[in-house]
Amino acid sequence: MDIVILKDSDQVAAYGAALFRRLLHDKPDAVLGLATGGTPIALYRRLIADYSDAMLSFREATTFNLDEYLGIDPRDPQSYRSYMRRELFDPVDIDIANTFLPECAAGENPLDVGPRYEQLIRSKGGIDLQILGIGQNGHIGFNEPTSSLVSRTRIKTLTRETLAANRRYFDAPALQPQLAITMGIASIMDARDIVLLATGSRKADAVRQSIEGPVSSMWPASALQMHERVTVLLDDAAASQLAQRDYYDWVQQQKQELLNERGGA
Ligand code: PGA
Repeated sequence: MDIVILKDSDQVAAYGAALFRRLLHDKPDAVLGLATGGTPIALYRRLIADYSDAMLSFREATTFNLDEYLGIDPRDPQSYRSYMRRELFDPVDIDIANTFLPECAAGENPLDVGPRYEQLIRSKGGIDLQILGIGQNGHIGFNEPTSSLVSRTRIKTLTRETLAANRRYFDAPALQPQLAITMGIASIMDARDIVLLATGSRKADAVRQSIEGPVSSMWPASALQMHERVTVLLDDAAASQLAQRDYYDWVQQQKQELLNERGGA
């Protein structure tokens, strides 16, 4: 794991945006794995600004989101489809036909959505870069604690903790869906590169358990320890409980020196 500790959430967003710029420059038709929630919004604002400054284009890109509520109308402002349109898709040049979420179409059997989504991801060549947030309980996507570490896209029942964390987005508790369809942990692990973003002290325990604890379905993000190419972008507060923090800073310093030497050669 490449653990990068930055001063604040602005720097986390800037670092993340630079990874997108590099990928879309090298591979304009990249397949991007996207996340919703509060954390990636600053990153998406950066990407929109970069697009406005003609520093990147999504014209040829394809996107797959991690999850969507089950039984929500895509036009509902609280659907993740609406979130993505608002926070990224509509302000940039992406072709909406190339944007996918694990949505259950009218009349479709919800049990068929997962296998169909997995097949669609495979047919597009797999995900090049997957963005992840992390829940306070260590979930990635909606893979709640005890999710199988080899799970695939499927229906999940949200924990009471997750429902409480997201209640603020809904006008009334009755309107909040309790089921979601989420990419599984194995689906996430198939991505060629993974970038996990965490900001704020609320995430510090989940970050510590997932990076420095044992691999366990009780902390689903700990599965990322088994992936070869993971970058973890943290602000100071989210990194505050890491025991090996000095080491991570030291590693980044060494890397920077190596890059500077190579740049100067
Ligand atoms: P947040 O959610 O970005 O809104 O904190 C992250 C998550 O639950 O995965």
